[in-house]
Amino acid sequence: MRILFLGDIVGRTGREAVMEAVPNLRRDLRLDLVVVNGENASHGFGLSLPIARDLFAAGVDVVTLGNHAWDRKDLVGQIDAEPRIIRPANYPPGTPGQGSVVVELVDGRKALVINVMGRQFMEALDDPFRAVTDIMARHRLGVTVHAVVVDIHAEASSEKWAMGHVLDGRASLVVGTHTHTPTADHRILPGGTAYQTDAGMCGDYDSVIGMGKDAAIARFLRRMPGERLQPAEGVATVAGMMVETDDATGLARRMAPLRIGGLLAPTMPDF
Ligand SMILES: [Fe+2]
Ligand SMILES: [Fe+2]
Repeated sequence: MRILFLGDIVGRTGREAVMEAVPNLRRDLRLDLVVVNGENASHGFGLSLPIARDLFAAGVDVVTLGNHAWDRKDLVGQIDAEPRIIRPANYPPGTPGQGSVVVELVDGRKALVINVMGRQFMEALDDPFRAVTDIMARHRLGVTVHAVVVDIHAEASSEKWAMGHVLDGRASLVVGTHTHTPTADHRILPGGTAYQTDAGMCGDYDSVIGMGKDAAIARFLRRMPGERLQPAEGVATVAGMMVETDDATGLARRMAPLRIGGLLAPTMPDF
């Protein structure tokens, strides 16, 4: 299975870049599954249902979330209507929405996508390691599902590395989101799980993690309430990675980063 994962989409420029790129990437890279993190897609804060539907129409299969899941309050009452939008699985029981989804591809193959959130320097949610292993206990990679993609939305690189090792050999891809900065540690772990600490951001990198520089910098210079953060509106980079798995095992055969447009050095998978 050929899988594309894109990191946090920030604001209009990020959305438009993703919606322009995905149809071409689906065709050129012969993608089977496209997963994006959309927690900042709605003006930097949260995700609206119409935006999610625009992303689906562009060829995205699943949209994951994170600590900004509920910034758009309207999504709270709408998320159950759209199972392809998933929020971190380790929110407490009773939270709207689901933390995972099984997507059936047009050819009948199935992929399990899971979203969990770290707890280091973040909200104190339930144990993400237990949440992800509870979900995975209901599926078997290479038997009931052909691929498992885990988005670990976390601040601490250590927590993401640990998640990669815990799931090595049981997931196709474990990828971090939330820090909006692509890391250069993409690799296939010894057990066959593709791993990258952070997918990076789909947004304008002439910013502070996607937000306009002046207001974001002012928050650091003067510890006072300032103007509201607004997404930077310059040309966006589309950032993430591609993985090719072996359908018989569900494990990764090849993996490469992908970056298109904007300020970051471009790179495309060559397989
Ligand atoms: Fe984010
Ligand atoms: Fe986040």
